[in-house]
Amino acid sequence: MTYESYVGMSREELLEKIAGQMSQRRFQHVLGVEKAAIHLAELNNYDSEKAGLAGLLHDYAKELPDQDFLDLIDKYNLDQDLKNWNNNVWHGMVGIYKIQEDLGLTDKEILRAIEIHTVGSSQMTTLDKIVYVADYIEHNRDFPLVEEARVIAEQSLDKAVAYETINTVAFLAKKAQPIYPQTIETYNAFCKYSESAKG
Ligand SMILES: [Fe+2]
Repeated sequence: MTYESYVGMSREELLEKIAGQMSQRRFQHVLGVEKAAIHLAELNNYDSEKAGLAGLLHDYAKELPDQDFLDLIDKYNLDQDLKNWNNNVWHGMVGIYKIQEDLGLTDKEILRAIEIHTVGSSQMTTLDKIVYVADYIEHNRDFPLVEEARVIAEQSLDKAVAYETINTVAFLAKKAQPIYPQTIETYNAFCKYSESAKG
């Protein structure tokens, strides 16, 4: 993977920039998502360079202070409702503006996949699904359902998106946490792919 044609710098230079934005632990996660995204791209006949780069950059803005996100929402005239949400939503939906400013990335498909990587969408491209799923299953992840999620991801991206979204919605509902409306849209569009969906 070179990534040079997308960001005008070598992978090594890019890694240095990314590492400067986050903790060592998150940097390892990001490298894990790059690897998982390349694997899922190969499985699904998708461009592995594009998938790898999207995986590598997906959490670029994750450790930005809240105020920076609020400022970006104003600067780019984004939906004011975003201000009612939090880092979980912002680091994707707003983070892409930081990525464009810092790295000059212009590829619309990659930016879109990063934009929706925590909330999904009712309309997801192959790249969108790859990043969404890779983020959940990369090898550093360790939570009770991750092994099953990895098995499902080998079989079908749609099933993996369904599995992840159902678990996310259930997790948030159990903790009585608000659920971003676009996450519900993802749930409604993908729950039919779940093994437990009744025909
Ligand atoms: Fe992530």
